[in-house]
Amino acid sequence: MQVFRTKKELTNVLSEKPEQHSIGLVPTMGALHKGHLTLIQRAFEENKVVVVSIFVNPTQFDNKDDLKKYPKALEKDIGLIKTISKEILVFAPPVSEMYSDEISAKSYDFDGLDQVMEGAFRQGHFDGVGTIVEALLTVIAPDIAYFGEKDFQQLQIIKKLVEIRNLAVKIIGCPIVREPNGLALSSRNERLSETMRHSASLIYQTLLSAKEKFGTKSADSIIEWVENRFKQHPDFQLEYIEITDAETLRPFQKKHKNKKYRAFIAVYAEEVRLIDNIALN
Ligand code: PAJ
Repeated sequence: MQVFRTKKELTNVLSEKPEQHSIGLVPTMGALHKGHLTLIQRAFEENKVVVVSIFVNPTQFDNKDDLKKYPKALEKDIGLIKTISKEILVFAPPVSEMYSDEISAKSYDFDGLDQVMEGAFRQGHFDGVGTIVEALLTVIAPDIAYFGEKDFQQLQIIKKLVEIRNLAVKIIGCPIVREPNGLALSSRNERLSETMRHSASLIYQTLLSAKEKFGTKSADSIIEWVENRFKQHPDFQLEYIEITDAETLRPFQKKHKNKKYRAFIAVYAEEVRLIDNIALN
């Protein structure tokens, strides 16, 4: 199993691979779980060479405490990646390797995709994500990069990044992996108590009900229903619930038969911020 700390070491090895070998990239921040592993598995099935990056990117955290508390488990992560294949290349650089001058993000125009939901509640978050993903895509030059629909807004923004920077990479979105009770897998779930991990199924249950209601009820009434539902559960603090066009992420207005819609939610539970989303049609 090869683990690289520097861009140079990694690109040296990549340049030795035959040219027709397609490269698949799975960018992560580590503390890997089954959600990450399904992305890695898919990349492994579809490419001759797979790189998994593990890098807790400081510029995408608007909250220093969240950055400090972000779980780190490199040895365990490497062990999990090995269960898929020992041939996978791991890129785990130190911060200084990705931010050599100063730890700051570039500024992007993502056509409004970054102005709502996660972008509105986490200042500068998507500039940070854009900066690190652009750097990874440029250094590694993969043919395909894999992202989870768990962070659906991020996935749309990465597609926009590829478009505005004219990068030769295909972006693939992969379905959300959940606990048996419906809670979307997340590295942050580790910070929840056993009891809360159980009760947090409320989030997915609520999204499922929203989806059911979407057939007959207005978006406004669904949003109000969700807000009231969370008011009845004081262990949870709802940050937002939104129903949007899945492509533009603009608020839902009127149903068009060729368009896709999605509901997005962010909730605090035991001071841990949890996000989830669902396709409504
Ligand atoms: P991270 O949160 O580690 O997630 C890495 C990838 O795994 C993302 O594409 C995310 O959407 C996907 N993922 C996480 N949980 C998932 C789940 N339950 N089901 C399916 N996919 C899931 O997202 C990031 O890191 C960072 O922002 C990154 C893109 C690496 C840039 O720093």
